[in-house]
Amino acid sequence: MVRRPFSSRVPSELGSNRLSQAIASARASGQPLIDLTQSNPTRVDFEYPDYLLSALADARGLKYEPSPFGLLGARQAVARDYARRGAEVSAERVALTASTSEAYSLLFKLVGDAGDEVLAPRPSYPLFEHLAQLDAVTIRPYDLEYHDGWSIDMASVERAISERTRALLVVTPNNPTGSFVTRSELKRLAELCAERGVAIVADEVFADYQLRPGACVDAGRVMDLHDGLVFSLGGLSKTVGLPQIKLAWIAVGGASDLVADALARLEIICDTYLSVSTPIQAAAAELLNRGAAVRKQIQARIAANYRALAGQLEGMPACSLLAADGGWSAIVRVPAIGSEEDLVVDLVAKGVVVHPGYFFDLPHESFLVASLLPAEDQFAEGIGRVLRHIESL
Ligand SMILES: Cc1ncc(COP(=O)(O)O)c(C=O)c1O
Repeated sequence: MVRRPFSSRVPSELGSNRLSQAIASARASGQPLIDLTQSNPTRVDFEYPDYLLSALADARGLKYEPSPFGLLGARQAVARDYARRGAEVSAERVALTASTSEAYSLLFKLVGDAGDEVLAPRPSYPLFEHLAQLDAVTIRPYDLEYHDGWSIDMASVERAISERTRALLVVTPNNPTGSFVTRSELKRLAELCAERGVAIVADEVFADYQLRPGACVDAGRVMDLHDGLVFSLGGLSKTVGLPQIKLAWIAVGGASDLVADALARLEIICDTYLSVSTPIQAAAAELLNRGAAVRKQIQARIAANYRALAGQLEGMPACSLLAADGGWSAIVRVPAIGSEEDLVVDLVAKGVVVHPGYFFDLPHESFLVASLLPAEDQFAEGIGRVLRHIESL
């Protein structure tokens, strides 16, 4: 056989799954679909003010002053954004990146050699496996369990930690469970990690989104920790609904000696790529300020859709809505009559797209995961189609 020059970091199976094939053929035949997997805020009828991007034309964008962590003004704007949410972060401890995905990649390079391990919650964001593989580190799952609400199975964390563990990921609120890591959970994780020299990486991209006022009162914040090494990730894609702008960040916290050593090393990695464009850095403060108008619409939409979903499910004892506190998605438990995959493929024929629970590694069948972002009328109609189909089974 002819040798081919490809690494095993990139999956060789690039084929589509049954759900994406069903969607493609429905679209090809012109069938209109309500997409309840839509997580792109720029495609669900929010009003983006005309002036939102005017700061990108700022003349500071005409000068190139390479700076590994980004322009100080932009890093200060990120620090102010943490302060808006009640967290104290110094601009000197902020590194800008093009996306949260890139932030993960930089941190995996910082903490892990090939074959080292990173613990990640299960169920959670499906991209972790792929991100880790591209950086030659291995994901080891720890479990979240559901008893009228989600919590971390601490015994599973202890079982998953090994000599090779370099970092533990938390997503707060988590996608798709909508659960915040609580203060007491974070305290326990911090003890486990600090003792073993494991960094905590907290993905806080959805931190602005609670599904009811006060839902996140018990949420823990990694930037309040002063032991061990912690990283907080955020970005414009969720906090102001601008994924196309490509600006995210890493804030570094924990014990000061570790923070200093981490920053010195992270600086070398960031200096190698210098991936954030100058016009975006120059506009960062304005984008964060003006983007609040979009954030408010997203906050209102997800809360309204979650309430509507709870209302639609009231008359359906066979289905139940899993309790969630924040984030952009909702999980509905449905009768396990056939496989989740058959169900979501059949639903495409009814004109609605939802994700199956297995896509996020939910522990067993049958669950459906819906994005809370679609416009309210579309969301209600889409859920109506799902429930009518389930009733007919
Ligand atoms: C938990 C989580 N983290 C990160 C991201 C991606 O963020 P970014 O667009 O900044 O790469 C997503 C996107 O859905 C997400 O769900």
